[in-house]
Amino acid sequence: MGKAEGRGKEWHGHVTAITVASEYRRIGLADGMMKLLESVSDKIYNGYFVDLFVRVSNTVAIGMYKKFGYSVYRRVIGYYSSGDNNEEDAFDMRKPLPRDVNKESIIENGEHNLDAAIVDAAVVDAAVVNAAVVDAAVVDAAVVVGAVVGFMVVVVKTIGLGDVTI
Ligand SMILES: CC(C)(COP(=O)(O)OP(=O)(O)OC[C@H]1O[C@@H](n2cnc3c(N)ncnc32)[C@H](O)[C@@H]1OP(=O)(O)O)[C@@H](O)C(=O)NCCC(=O)NCCS
Repeated sequence: MGKAEGRGKEWHGHVTAITVASEYRRIGLADGMMKLLESVSDKIYNGYFVDLFVRVSNTVAIGMYKKFGYSVYRRVIGYYSSGDNNEEDAFDMRKPLPRDVNKESIIENGEHNLDAAIVDAAVVDAAVVNAAVVDAAVVDAAVVVGAVVGFMVVVVKTIGLGDVTI
């Protein structure tokens, strides 16, 4: 599941969630879904990069994203919070798309680039406001992405792969 968001050079594709049912892992499904989202973010949305948030303890996913070309941009303090003192930090990982010619969307040693979650929440609020004023072209593009995602789900169901979320 994903979306496009941001303004100016922050315009990018965002991986909201990716999960593959345990019995269908290690056969390249996450790889295929990430490539699809990157392609849509590039070709349809003309974004500068793709980003995602991952728990700092999720070493499997972090290793996978690094293999796919993502790097840590910053560590967001207390990004995951269930309200029971069970907070966990997130890595904000990014992969530049061809439009980011000078690779301005990534930095070195992002693990040491700290950001408080409250700052990130403000950014999310701004994105929601921006979403309310997007023009018709962007809305049309969202429909195209919805169709592509729907197509993927149909394909996955047709070939009997069960629960796969993109
Ligand atoms: C992370 C997850 C989405 C990977 O899905 P997947 O379809 O199994 O991944 P792929 O088959 O495309 O694997 C791509 C590469 O990632 C790495 N990888 C994936 N799972 C791995 C594992 N358990 N251990 C080590 N490396 C792993 C490997 O490099 C793999 O390539 P390879 O199989 O050629 O060695 C899946 O394990 C999952 O749903 N986990 C729980 C939810 C989650 O953590 N989501 C990410 C939250 S940000």
